[in-house]
Amino acid sequence: MGPNYVWLNIRPLFYLLHNLATGNRKLATLVLFFIIFVASMLDKIKELTQTIEAFSIESKEQLEEFRLEYLSKKGKITSMFDGFDFKTVAPEVKKSMGQEMNKLKVLAQTKFDELQDKLSAGGDDKSAYQKIDTSLPVIPNELGGRHPISVVREQIYKVFERMGFNLSDGPEIEDDFHNFTALNFPENHPAREMQDTFFIERNPDIVLRTHTSSVQVRVMENQKPPIRTISPGRVYRNEAISARAHCMFHQIEGLYIDKNVSFADLKNTLYHFSKEMFGKDTQIRFRPSFFPFTEPSAEMDISCFICNGKGCNICKYSGWVEIGGAGMLDPNVLTNCNIDAKVYSGFAFGMGIERITMLKYQIKDLRLFTENDVRFLRQFKHAE
Ligand code: PHE
Repeated sequence: MGPNYVWLNIRPLFYLLHNLATGNRKLATLVLFFIIFVASMLDKIKELTQTIEAFSIESKEQLEEFRLEYLSKKGKITSMFDGFDFKTVAPEVKKSMGQEMNKLKVLAQTKFDELQDKLSAGGDDKSAYQKIDTSLPVIPNELGGRHPISVVREQIYKVFERMGFNLSDGPEIEDDFHNFTALNFPENHPAREMQDTFFIERNPDIVLRTHTSSVQVRVMENQKPPIRTISPGRVYRNEAISARAHCMFHQIEGLYIDKNVSFADLKNTLYHFSKEMFGKDTQIRFRPSFFPFTEPSAEMDISCFICNGKGCNICKYSGWVEIGGAGMLDPNVLTNCNIDAKVYSGFAFGMGIERITMLKYQIKDLRLFTENDVRFLRQFKHAE
């Protein structure tokens, strides 16, 4: 029971009794009215306190209604202040009543701030969370898979990585020197013609690289032997698109330079790769061939891993499938890249990643790799 209670309830009561006892009926009646008035005021304050405390809102409009009803100049609290004649009452009564009313005003302001905060944080906006049905099953966040070309590129690289090869990369738009000249391509080689290669500029010639051998030139220019590197990447040739050919495909080439590197090293390296990649019973075979940058050069075949050499439609009943080209580096190439051809020798090989992927997963149409058909791509989701 605080001092306000005493001044607003107990004191007027005594005053009433005192006036009744002294026979001052007029004053007693006035005091009685005062008591009733104060009681009704306190009642109203109590009622408003409860309503304000319990107030909740769901929208900005309701927040504005709250402000108008309790905080504005024409609101309930201000009109209550206005309705109380502070001047005529005793200072203690004035003070006590003022304090009670102020408490209410502060409460309304605090509540307003609180509601506003909740609304801007979306916290009290029941309509939003009521829309969420937590009993529904979750939408699975489906993970994608890697493209088969990426999968196979990594499989190939991993085998060579275990043999000490590192990875090298270079530009897809290449100058004539790195794509052709350094690699010993003669002036009139057909690859230097427009119908075989995409030229971006002429004189000086800039092309879309036709093989990743251009990366090997860059490695030879910038590193000293011993060199062991694998260069995978996209290459371009001016070819009609069909089930077996595309104007854009992927190669993975290898380069090995050191003292006393021989053809036997080349054969053994590729033999080991074939066993790792296609199975331990795989055999390899070299057929004489020609590339401007290697001498001697060879085409490399592996025994058909589908029929084990017996003959099937994958190997066209020959028992062998071609997987790439290889050869000993032509000394001219070493010289072009400032490597002493009298001290060093080396070998190089190159394979088409599409071709190996098609063999490995028995894919019949090369165009599937670039069509982005998820029904095709999904099949490689778990390939490693
Ligand atoms: N660069 C050759 C090509 O694109 C492949 C190759 C690389 C052949 C290395 C021999 C040695 O066809």
